[in-house]
Amino acid sequence: MKGKSGRSIAAISDVRAAVSRFCDEQLSRRLDTQPVAEVHQKVSACVQTVDPAMTPYIFGSTAVLGVHEQGSDVDFACLSPTDVQDGKGADAVSEVAKGLQSDFLFRLSEVVKREHYLWGIELVRRTRVPVLRVKGGLGVDSVSFDVTANRRNGVRNSALLRAYFTQCPEARWLSMLVKQWSKRTGLNASVDGGCITSYGWNIMVVYYLLRRRLVTLVPVESCDVADIAPMPPYMPLETPQQGGQALADMLMDFVRYYLDEFAPETEVMSLTRAAGETTKEMLSWTKQAEDMARIRGEKIHYRWCIEDPYEYDLNVGRNVTPFKLMLLRKHLERAQETALLLLA
Ligand code: CTP
Ligand code: MG
Repeated sequence: MKGKSGRSIAAISDVRAAVSRFCDEQLSRRLDTQPVAEVHQKVSACVQTVDPAMTPYIFGSTAVLGVHEQGSDVDFACLSPTDVQDGKGADAVSEVAKGLQSDFLFRLSEVVKREHYLWGIELVRRTRVPVLRVKGGLGVDSVSFDVTANRRNGVRNSALLRAYFTQCPEARWLSMLVKQWSKRTGLNASVDGGCITSYGWNIMVVYYLLRRRLVTLVPVESCDVADIAPMPPYMPLETPQQGGQALADMLMDFVRYYLDEFAPETEVMSLTRAAGETTKEMLSWTKQAEDMARIRGEKIHYRWCIEDPYEYDLNVGRNVTPFKLMLLRKHLERAQETALLLLA
């Protein structure tokens, strides 16, 4: 079948069948958050030894989707009572603050090493946010998690995404489909040469849902760490309605939206203002800024703009170079033919 643009488009009946296969396969796996709760307990015990006042909060996919996908890492933010009480406060970005965070993570790494001597540990200080990366165990007992310190933004933005994904039954499925596709195409930043993190893809999914009025705007200010549980509650996934018809339509419409409607030259995907109202010009994300801006020596691109809801002046799509933007378009075109490779 050909679309308006002359490109080949997968038949919707095939897409529906493929989507329902994807969902059945996911539902046949273990998706509950018990394995995460067990890691949470182990990490809590180590944190307790370093500083009993600190509490590890789980964020990332477990919080966003309310399920644990096999193979996904777990994200922790260790927060102090002050961080939690001031749950809408901005995260400190100074070098001094980063130094203190690194110190805490170093002390934690020493305890983790002592308690779990087979786990692989790496403390990464030079990133925008210092992070302790832990990989341990084999097979079903394997754990892989990242820990940050005194950073509320991840906890807040995960709660924000969750508040969107619970508004519409297809939303979490769409997020999972898009994430899996972005990893398989190599567009996901977790893959070598990838450029958009799962977090970025999730904002793209929510922005699309807002543009189509399938969800309503959640004020970014409404997410307060003081109201968020350290271990997010499990939200079982349900088989999509009408044999996946609505989800299949939504999936193909998502691809169409980013291929044909979204205007990357002028528009910014943003959850801060009503959808469609944020322009590159408003944020001064211009060619000139692109030529000037660097984060720790790395060039920032403003070709595919995703405004971080809590960080000031941060483009989540900053690694999308002109070449990667072309690749992104090619993969979207291919996704239209293959229903995100589900038919491939
Ligand atoms: N995050 C962020 N800023 C970024 C990247 C990530 O704040 N630039 C935070 C977000 O809270 C996000 C979490 O880190 O939810 C985890 O990021 P990521 O691993 O990209 O997303 P997940 O949803 O955990 O997906 P995956 O299953 O691929 O781990
Ligand atoms: Mg993650």
